[in-house]
Amino acid sequence: MKDIFEKLHDKMGPLGMHADDAHGYFTFPKLEGPIGPKMKFRGVEKLNWSLNNYLGLANHPDVMKADADAATEFGMAYPMGARMMSGNSNYHEQLEHDLAEFIQKPDVILLNYGYQGVVSAIDALIDRHDVVVYDAESHACIIDGLRLHLGKRFVYKHNNVEDCEKQLVRATKLAEETGGGVLVITEGVFGMSGSQGKLKEIVELKKKFDFRLFVDDAHGFGTMGQTGAGTGEEQGCQDGIDVYFSTFAKSMAGIGAFIGSTQHVIKFLRYNMRSQIYAKALPMPMVVGSIKRLEMIRTQPEHKDNLWKIFHALQGGLKEAGFNIGITTTPVTPVLLNGTIPEATHLTFDLRENYNIFCSIVVYPVVPKGVIMLRLIPTAVHTLEDVEITINAFKSVKSKLDSGEYRKEKLATVS
Ligand SMILES: Cc1ncc(COP(=O)(O)O)c(C=O)c1O
Repeated sequence: MKDIFEKLHDKMGPLGMHADDAHGYFTFPKLEGPIGPKMKFRGVEKLNWSLNNYLGLANHPDVMKADADAATEFGMAYPMGARMMSGNSNYHEQLEHDLAEFIQKPDVILLNYGYQGVVSAIDALIDRHDVVVYDAESHACIIDGLRLHLGKRFVYKHNNVEDCEKQLVRATKLAEETGGGVLVITEGVFGMSGSQGKLKEIVELKKKFDFRLFVDDAHGFGTMGQTGAGTGEEQGCQDGIDVYFSTFAKSMAGIGAFIGSTQHVIKFLRYNMRSQIYAKALPMPMVVGSIKRLEMIRTQPEHKDNLWKIFHALQGGLKEAGFNIGITTTPVTPVLLNGTIPEATHLTFDLRENYNIFCSIVVYPVVPKGVIMLRLIPTAVHTLEDVEITINAFKSVKSKLDSGEYRKEKLATVS
C-alpha cells in the first residue's frame, strides 16, 4: 500500500509545478497599502490593474466606517452559529430584502461564500433525474457543483447558442425518460474573456424547451445594466433568469454572496443548502457593511459611470494601439499575446519592475498553449492618466516580445 502523500512530491499539478520558481512573485504576490490603483509590491509603488474592486468601494471612507462601526458594535463573532440554528439577525434579513428589491427578484438568500454557495445550490436544486446543460467556460464553482450531480450533464461550446440548443434537445429527451427536469447554467459575465453570457438568447429558447436558467453573475452585478443590477438587466431579460447568483467579492468589495429567485425556491434553499445549514452565518460587519455598499451602488451611479469611462478608455486605447483584447464587452480586459510560458514571465517581470505596472498574468492551462493573457481589471478609481501610462507600457513590452527580447528557456526567477 502506498502513502497517499507519496504522489504529492512529483505531482504538483499544472499550476503547482511552477511553485518553486513563481511563489511570492507570479503566484501569491503580496500587494500592500490601502486597496486601490496604486499599491506597493515588494516595497515599490505599482499601478495596479489586478483587483476586482470594480466600483472602488473597497476602501471608500463610508464603507470603511460602516464596517468599522459594525465591528466595534458587534465584533467579528456575532452571530454565532448557522442562520437556521442561532445565527440569524434582522440585519441579515434586511440585506436579503434590499438585494431582492435591487435585482427585482421576489426573495434572496445570503451565502457565506460564493464558491461553496454555488456548489451547494446546484447540489440542492437538482437530483439524479435532472439533466444539466452548461457553458464550457463555466467557473470552477459551477464545475465543482456539477461534480456532485449524480445525473447527466451536457456541456455546450462557450457562448454558442446553437450548440446550447443541440444539448437542450438531448437533455430534454433524457429528462423525459428519467422523469426529471432541465437546468441551464451560464455566467452573466465570463471573468477571463469578459464576454457576456448570451442570456437573452438562452431565455428565448424557453419558447422551445422547458428548462430553468441559473446565472452566475459574479462579474456583472454592480457593473452591468442601467442600475447595476447585472447582466440580465443589461440584456433586458432579468425576468427570464430563474436563479440569479452573485458574490460580494467583486463590485461589493467584501465577502459573502447571494442567490435571488422566487419565494418558494429561496425557502427551499434556506432549508436544503448544506453549505448554509452546516456553516456559520456571515459576520455582522460584513452584513451591515454590505447594506451600506448596496445603498451606495443604488444611490451613487457615479461609481459605475466612472468604471465605464475608464473601461472604455482602456479598451478603446488598447484596440487603437493594435492589441487583441478578444471578445470582451464588459470591464474585464484581457490582452492576448503570443508566447511561451518563460516569455510570459520575463515580460511580466519587465512590466512590473521597469514600468511599475502590476496586472495578472494567465498562461496554459487556463488559456491555450502559446497564448499569454495579461488581464486588466479597470475600476472606478483609476484615472485616464493611468490608462495612458499603461497603454504606452504595453506598446513597449509588446515590441520587445515581438523582437524576441524575452525569448529565454527558463522562467524569470526572482530573488
Ligand atoms: C464567476 C464566479 N463565480 C463565483 C465566484 C466565487 O465567489 P467567492 O469569491 O465569493 O467565493 C467567483 C470568484 O470570486 C467568480 O468569478
